[in-house]
Amino acid sequence: MTGEDGGAVVRGYRAGDLEACRSLWVELTETHRRIYDSPGIGGENPGLQFDDHLALVGPDNLWVAELDGRVVGLTGVILRQDEAELEPLIVTEALRGRGIGTRLAEAVVAAARDAGLGSLSVRPVARNVAALQFFHAHGFRVMGHVEIFMDLRDGPRPWRPGESLADRPFSV
Ligand SMILES: CC(C)(COP(=O)(O)OP(=O)(O)OC[C@H]1O[C@@H](n2cnc3c(N)ncnc32)[C@H](O)[C@@H]1OP(=O)(O)O)[C@@H](O)C(=O)NCCC(=O)NCCS
Repeated sequence: MTGEDGGAVVRGYRAGDLEACRSLWVELTETHRRIYDSPGIGGENPGLQFDDHLALVGPDNLWVAELDGRVVGLTGVILRQDEAELEPLIVTEALRGRGIGTRLAEAVVAAARDAGLGSLSVRPVARNVAALQFFHAHGFRVMGHVEIFMDLRDGPRPWRPGESLADRPFSV
């Protein structure tokens, strides 16, 4: 398989992928730390959140992208009654923009279709504009539930104006 993704192969998760997937989860956390300018996000060992996710969904609901024998991307699906959620989607930073994320997302869409599910959702943080643009470009164009919240903490808050919904401004 060749193309601008350089021949990345998408395959099911295997036990030997554990460390690589932990590292990819760290990269996901780094994205969130960067866009929120908040180094504390994800705690001290964010890679272990992959272990929690693996325990939640099981290995059959995770896929990796492999390039030259190295795991460079990760995705998965959380299956529910009649719907599915794509979570996570991560491509290692140096290889972004080459189509690997698209290939991974396509694997999840295909799995959700094969399972006969009625919808596939994704829940990026509202400030992750690049991810929102990616998902929009890949067919995620319906807004279902929207989570809005009130920040009850004292002190400085990380939010900034950025989005509009129902003709009202929201911070992200
Ligand atoms: C979102 C992500 C998985 C996309 O993977 P990818 O391999 O870069 O995606 P593709 O190459 O298939 O598609 C590139 C598209 O993704 C978007 N994109 C998002 N972040 C990008 C980045 N850092 N570099 C390049 N493209 C990026 C671009 O809009 C691009 O669109 P274009 O093709 O019109 O230029 C990847 O950028 C990533 O891992 N980001 C950090 C983790 C994250 O935010 N995940 C989503 C959380 S819900």
